[in-house]
Amino acid sequence: MKKYILITGSTDGIGKLLAIKLAIEGHQVYIHGRNQDKVTKAMDEIKAKSRNETIGAFVGDLSDMNAVRQLAQDIKAKVSQIDILVNNAGVFMSGSQQSANGCDMRFVVNYLAPYLLTHELLPLMNQSRDARIINLSSAAQSELSYEAIMGRQHTSVNALYAQSKLALTMWSFYLAQQKKDMIVIAVNPGSLLNTKMANEAYGQYWSPAEKGADILYDLTIAEKHKKHSGEYFDNDSGRYARAHSDAYNNDAIRKLIDFTNNLISI
Ligand SMILES: NC(=O)c1ccc[n+]([C@@H]2O[C@H](COP(=O)([O-])OP(=O)(O)OC[C@H]3O[C@@H](n4cnc5c(N)ncnc54)[C@H](OP(=O)(O)O)[C@@H]3O)[C@@H](O)[C@H]2O)c1
Repeated sequence: MKKYILITGSTDGIGKLLAIKLAIEGHQVYIHGRNQDKVTKAMDEIKAKSRNETIGAFVGDLSDMNAVRQLAQDIKAKVSQIDILVNNAGVFMSGSQQSANGCDMRFVVNYLAPYLLTHELLPLMNQSRDARIINLSSAAQSELSYEAIMGRQHTSVNALYAQSKLALTMWSFYLAQQKKDMIVIAVNPGSLLNTKMANEAYGQYWSPAEKGADILYDLTIAEKHKKHSGEYFDNDSGRYARAHSDAYNNDAIRKLIDFTNNLISI
């Protein structure tokens, strides 16, 4: 059955590969990126490779919460239903380390933006009888330091990235509890996949990018994942696995959600 699918950060890497796979099958795919030229190029490429002319596209910089709100408005103006939201956009290395609100850039792009965007798009997802949210986590997950996230304590880029991915995983589990009528899954698509992110961060890769796109495709479409809402799929081991212990710690989750709602005033 044709699905309405929004993939953030689909101008490159595994997000773009996923968009091509889903477009080939005739789904209504909406891509997203932060740069209009790159979005246009990606859309042309996806249309050519999939022979699917229906691809839609949106532009918005996820490091800016006002831009995220505008992006949600733009989507709501053009789209009446979303069946699947893939919160894929992410950043490891970043030109500027902090966003306008003083928060670490990785925390903002990798966690705060998908949190806010999803919150804003829930009315569209409520229109679906089979809604799924796939959140791009990582094998790198570490305990949150709010001092570090707010730039008041020095921490390595690796640690800040891992904190942003644990935050995303904690919220994924929380959201699954809140929205029992939806499927919410956090996924590590595979470590050091051959994409811009891994090559910029480590100058090497362990696996082809297709490994990540294949698991995203499966999580997006396959019926078998429906019973795994509120879980973490680890594509290094190829199965559902335990996330960091804080993802099961209700006090830590409550603290994160309160901190987040306070930051974005919802
Ligand atoms: N590659 C890995 O080994 C690996 C491992 C674990 C998890 N992941 C996760 O998988 C996801 C996809 O990563 P990837 O490896 O495919 O990375 P990638 O090739 O660098 O692609 C990242 C995508 O996110 C977009 N993006 C980055 N910052 C943005 C911003 N401020 N606003 C809007 N869009 C933004 C990028 O846009 P531009 O094209 O404009 O840069 C690009 O489309 C990420 O969440 C990443 O953390 C990757």
